[in-house]
Amino acid sequence: MALDDIIQELKFRVKIEDVVSSYNIQLKRSSRNLVGLCPFHGEKTPSFNLYPENNSFYCFGCHAGGDVITFIRKMENLDYVDAVKLLAQRYNIDIPESTKDKGLSNLRNRIYEANKEAARYFHRKLYTQEGQNALNYLKGRGLTEQTIKHFGLGYSTSITYDLTSYLNDKGFKNTELIQANLSFESRSGRIVDRFIDRIMFPIMDLRGNVIAFGGRIMTDQKPKYLNTSDTPVFKKSNNCFALSFAKNSKDGYLILAEGYMDVIALHQAGFESAIATLGTALTKEQAILLKRYTDDIVLCYDSDDAGQNATMRAIPILRDVGLNVRVINIPNGKDPDEFLKTNGENGHIKFKQLIEKSGNDIEYRLQKLKNKLDLDSPDGKVAYLTQVSKLLATFDSEIEIDVYARKIAAELSVAPYSIIQQIDKYKQKDYKTKIQQQRNKNNMEVLVVNDSINPDKKTHLMASNAEEQIISCIINNPDIAGSIISKFPPEKFITSFNKKIYECIVRRFNDKKEFSVMDISGEFSNDENSRIIKIVHNYNKNCNPYEICNDCINVIDKENDKIAFSGDNLSNKSEEDVQKYIDRLKKQKK
Ligand code: UTP
Ligand code: MN
Repeated sequence: MALDDIIQELKFRVKIEDVVSSYNIQLKRSSRNLVGLCPFHGEKTPSFNLYPENNSFYCFGCHAGGDVITFIRKMENLDYVDAVKLLAQRYNIDIPESTKDKGLSNLRNRIYEANKEAARYFHRKLYTQEGQNALNYLKGRGLTEQTIKHFGLGYSTSITYDLTSYLNDKGFKNTELIQANLSFESRSGRIVDRFIDRIMFPIMDLRGNVIAFGGRIMTDQKPKYLNTSDTPVFKKSNNCFALSFAKNSKDGYLILAEGYMDVIALHQAGFESAIATLGTALTKEQAILLKRYTDDIVLCYDSDDAGQNATMRAIPILRDVGLNVRVINIPNGKDPDEFLKTNGENGHIKFKQLIEKSGNDIEYRLQKLKNKLDLDSPDGKVAYLTQVSKLLATFDSEIEIDVYARKIAAELSVAPYSIIQQIDKYKQKDYKTKIQQQRNKNNMEVLVVNDSINPDKKTHLMASNAEEQIISCIINNPDIAGSIISKFPPEKFITSFNKKIYECIVRRFNDKKEFSVMDISGEFSNDENSRIIKIVHNYNKNCNPYEICNDCINVIDKENDKIAFSGDNLSNKSEEDVQKYIDRLKKQKK
């Protein structure tokens, strides 16, 4: 089956709502569409719309949109062909060999391959003479043979070009290894290994590709961990360690820890839902990623000050994408790895108890506020009430606010009403700034005339709107395409991006191919597809598409006339032509 045939097959079989819900996005029906929380920008009120009738989506918050293939491209960070392949696999559609290999030569795939070979090489080294120390180190930290295999842990030897020359022999070019961040050019000009004499932790993406490594030194030298820098296949702030395993866990929540070793120890103790951010503070992108797999996060960062500060920073980021958060308190300043090791055989039971005892993030934050203040003094009380009110004012749920306001009122023996009043005050302030921000943003949108997708739009606003209406009419009513195309060729389109869409439609029409959004999405980038969906959905079903198109053709014709007789172009026009133009203008005025 050729790519085109696969797409026709997908068009009939795939339902965008099924694909989207497989990413833990809850959808609600709203007239003919479905709405949910946008997986691309993170939000608490839904602005992500699905249109089952043409398998497309559009987010009114971040303006991401497209067909179902574009959705997969964005979600899985894949190019077009790989996204089609992924969908085809899910729907058991045969993929021809030739399509399978297509693109394998591109850089990203070479980096995946190099990383895979490197991971295997590092792992094998553990079981050689050179790797004996490393293996002993891992065993000394309590890891079983099975755990070491499961995580594919390994060892990079102390020979500075060990991996580089191994991969060179396997056919990888130095430029590829440097782009993969496995090697670098030393000051002497020699290409050498990035990781030397370290325990190696492979980092995998959700499809099981090795995308990066963390490398731990076995002594107390610095840096303790060296991580792959960002490469064409890896962005630290967008990935989590062990998520490829944890996403299959049936626990219903994800345990978010700080370090590689914590996660590995947790998995070994039976907590397969443990993951970690990669040595950075939690980012919004990571929170959005986690929301694909769960609604509940159990935070269990180290119990030292750094870990507690990181917890306070992570909570609002997680809440802001709609995740529920609980916080584990590990006693005696330990990290999860140390806690499990200390408890030996009882590790699982003891840690399970910590999870069950864990309070939600609100209780955690209230406790933190309390710890800083002396609640027996009037000043301390007032300060606490002020800060608590500010905190509660950021919550959307009235029930949450009410419950906690009452609880705190009882604790401090003040009237609940006074706290609620205070919260309302902060809420209003908060609301006002939000409205102002929105207003500023709207103003900006009017002012910002630079349209990066269709830069010509700013100079030909009317014409480009007319062009967009024609495109929308044709895609929504393929039957009218023939008559419109025959009287209005693509050369007449003025703005470059709209012209590109129209050309694509015309070409497919002439080739007797279909031109729904899903048929044409492969020819456009993700951002371009977002715009196409916006254009296609800006359509009024109650109007007659022929009439609209004819009106729009008139608008564009006039604009073309104007361009043809503008100052620069006027000199090469005959007097007769100019007179005709003036007559046309006069007629319009009447
Ligand atoms: P930790 O020092 O808590 O790591 O740093 P750990 O996993 O518990 O390590 P062990 O137990 O000492 O072996 C937390 C995480 O921060 C990142 C790593 O991802 C680490 O797992 N980190 C730490 C770095 O990236 N570089 C560093 O130098 C240190
Ligand atoms: Mn540790």
